[in-house]
Amino acid sequence: MTIVMRIRGVFRSKKKEVLLSGIKEGDIVLDYGCGIGFNTIPAAEIVGKKGKVYALDIHPLAIKTVNKEIKKKRLTNIETILSDLDTELPDESVDIVLVYNVLPIIKNRPALIKELYRVLTTKGILSVKSGLGANLYSRKKIETEDLKKLMIDSGPLKLKEKIKKFYIFKKIERK
Ligand SMILES: C[S@@+](CC[C@H](N)C(=O)[O-])C[C@H]1O[C@@H](n2cnc3c(N)ncnc32)[C@H](O)[C@@H]1O
Repeated sequence: MTIVMRIRGVFRSKKKEVLLSGIKEGDIVLDYGCGIGFNTIPAAEIVGKKGKVYALDIHPLAIKTVNKEIKKKRLTNIETILSDLDTELPDESVDIVLVYNVLPIIKNRPALIKELYRVLTTKGILSVKSGLGANLYSRKKIETEDLKKLMIDSGPLKLKEKIKKFYIFKKIERK
């Protein structure tokens, strides 16, 4: 019971973090490096039945855990993807990409950002959380200026807003 309540608490606080991206009902979302779905489930609740969340992770156990949660909660708007830098999604098909606690772990960051730029719609948003989880995992921190440069060079994506550890980038057209 305590564990269930703790997990519920995590999902509630994660919902606030997911909302920072500007996500709304009906959106198509990619949760890149979804882990066990801490952000996937709140995102699916926000987008509702008219929307969809793609939950992608390189780790089979992460995908298995999210699939179990989908089954348990009888969710119909989440699709899991076991993959790496290739999202397998069509061009301009995603409104919001969440990259929470993942970026410092990725070796080829320019390739990832290029791929995320490709799948984002013209008004698409890329929301990055540079969090403790990833820093602990990789023991690296990406500085704001380096992150902005990566997004401009590999997108272009422009920083729209920064709220504590959250960076909201907006897709801009290539010249
Ligand atoms: C620290 S966890 C973050 C999980 C989740 N985003 C969260 O905030 O709770 C990092 C996740 O990124 C995944 N990951 C690492 N490298 C990846 C890659 N190249 N492609 C896709 N996922 C990757 C890991 O398997 C892990 O589940």
